[in-house]
Amino acid sequence: MNNFEPKRYLITAALPYANGPVHIGHLAGCYLPADIYTRYLKAQGKEVLFICGSDEHGVPITIKAKKEGISPQQVVDKYDGIMKNAFKDFGIDFTYYGRTSSKTHHDTAQEFFRNLYDKGVFKEEITNQYYDVEANQFLADRYITGTCPRCGNTNAYGDQCEKCGTTLSPTDLINPKSTLSGATPVLKETKNWFLPMDSIQQSAQFQEYIKRFDGWKSNIKGQCNSWLTEGLQPRAMTRDLDWGVPVPVEDAEGKVLYVWFDAPIGYISATKEYLASPSCIDHGPWTNWWQNEDTALIHFIGKDNIVFHAIIFPMMLMTHGKYILPTNVPANEFLNLEGDKISTSRNWAVWLHEYLVDFPNRQDELRYVLTSIAPETKDSEFTWKDYQTRVNSELVSIFGNFVNRVLVLSDKFYEGKIPSKPNMITVQNIFTCRQTCFDSITQSLHAMREDLDAVKLRDAQAEFINIARAGNKYLADTEPWKLIKTDEEIVKQIMFDAIQICAKLAIAAAPFLPHTAIKLKVMLGDENLNWSSLFNENILLENHQLGKHEILYKQVDDEEIQKQLDRLEAIKLANSQQPEANSLTDLKPDINYEDFEKIDLRVGKILEAEKVPKADKLLKLTVDLGFEKRTILSGIAEYYKPEELVGKLVTVVANLAPRKIRGIESQGMLLMAGNDFGKLFNVGPEKDIETGSVVK
Ligand code: MF3
Ligand code: ZN
Repeated sequence: MNNFEPKRYLITAALPYANGPVHIGHLAGCYLPADIYTRYLKAQGKEVLFICGSDEHGVPITIKAKKEGISPQQVVDKYDGIMKNAFKDFGIDFTYYGRTSSKTHHDTAQEFFRNLYDKGVFKEEITNQYYDVEANQFLADRYITGTCPRCGNTNAYGDQCEKCGTTLSPTDLINPKSTLSGATPVLKETKNWFLPMDSIQQSAQFQEYIKRFDGWKSNIKGQCNSWLTEGLQPRAMTRDLDWGVPVPVEDAEGKVLYVWFDAPIGYISATKEYLASPSCIDHGPWTNWWQNEDTALIHFIGKDNIVFHAIIFPMMLMTHGKYILPTNVPANEFLNLEGDKISTSRNWAVWLHEYLVDFPNRQDELRYVLTSIAPETKDSEFTWKDYQTRVNSELVSIFGNFVNRVLVLSDKFYEGKIPSKPNMITVQNIFTCRQTCFDSITQSLHAMREDLDAVKLRDAQAEFINIARAGNKYLADTEPWKLIKTDEEIVKQIMFDAIQICAKLAIAAAPFLPHTAIKLKVMLGDENLNWSSLFNENILLENHQLGKHEILYKQVDDEEIQKQLDRLEAIKLANSQQPEANSLTDLKPDINYEDFEKIDLRVGKILEAEKVPKADKLLKLTVDLGFEKRTILSGIAEYYKPEELVGKLVTVVANLAPRKIRGIESQGMLLMAGNDFGKLFNVGPEKDIETGSVVK
């Protein structure tokens, strides 16, 4: 692998499920890194295809369809368009974005299955699966609920109990029910085809393949090795389901390919589709991309996809025999949002299309921040405050400011024309500033290139900013705006240099900040600036006319950020008042006495209560705890008028870590009794007792 010089690069980004819009977690985890890397390869003139598409099969899509009362096809038609547009808006520049409901895909996936089937790769097995007699169909794990044998949650799914986190199989459930009809399902025999992952694991070819893991990121290596040590198990590649690619063999009525069998083949079908399309010129046959050892195949994914891309799909490719295996699988970890896991169902996300409504034309700002905090080696976190800081203190103050200063001064001194260079700088301290600046830039450029090669995009982008930083320092140290009065020749040199640095920035920005790069190239009067001149000393020559300039980035102000925080706070509140399904009948898992003892409950008295401006649900309370007064925000405005509360005794969680809501620090929480039907009552002591009394 070490001396591998690929002739072409096939870059894939995980096909997103077409059952919801795209959020910042998707972007940071997979699509943005894939895009940056692809743009970097293309900038160097390499031959690259960047393939993605909608993953339109699988049970979650059928469930979504049932919920919305539409067909699965309608669900995927809707989201395919939404996702495609969101990617485009953020400059995720796929060569081709396919769909797994396409004819080419169905044909390709069936052919692939048939190939393995004919080779006798699969093990046929008859197992007992739950069947809904009323709905007349076998039930996917998610279509069965019942009582968790471990914690007693009556609403566990056939594959998992979401209360206690246990992985289940449908037959583990006590009192299983079909979610389709409510009927008790019966066990019925069914035949399915299994990929014998256990024996493939033992094969020489697989053992040879896994040597590649050594050169991959440690999070992937770690996950894969732990799967391998545990020993792989055969896995069914077909399912009893009516949504998906039909299994192309006899005796398989009512069965479709397992979604994780067909989806990665989507990369192949999308490649085929693209290469056969009229918009494609001269990229050779698809087999050159998939079946030629000269190709580097690189899968960008999130960490929940690792086993499928690093183990299962390669096993499929390997048993087929003609295909190349992945060269690298740069998987990222997860991005959290303001202290919580991103969740589509809880609406805890920053949606790309919504971002653009509030921050029109500012996609590069989001790209920049997401790359700065990309979860490359561990989970990371997006907060709006941090977004503001990074945009203002890095994009605006360093990069934007440098470019702006240079272009304003060039206008002022030379009417936007690049000055001629004097022969030599003779003033010693200026000479030293210049040397320091260019040494630092050269070093950053080399580091950036190495980081890009190693797919360390966070570091690479940081080096990019360092270039602007060095430029700023050069100007600050030499102060051309002062020197212009006394040393015109020296100023010519400084400005000539500064413009070259702008040109380097315009070129180097292209993978990370593509919209900015185009803008800046226009401002510099040369849209063709390209990667090959990045290391040149003179990129734009004397007398070249610069274009019109404008500010690259606007400051993000506090109100803009507050608006986003308010939106999230409202979602949090809505979620907290939304009792979880069945919370009235289900208990949370057991805790120890020690867990309970950690909570310090006290009697408090409400002294003041007022509404919080612009927050319908919140009241701001002043609560006397005897030994001190607390400010507490409570989401009870719909249930209590402020004046009703004054004087009431309440129970306060007194040692809850304070948190800021709408700029106000809330220092505790009140206990309330609530039910599903919109009732909420204060839980205070029955009789008067002094404030501060311990509740236990
Ligand atoms: N749809 C899957 C997900 O969102 C990813 C599929 S990747 C592919 O987790 F390789 F299978 F296409
Ligand atoms: Zn459970």
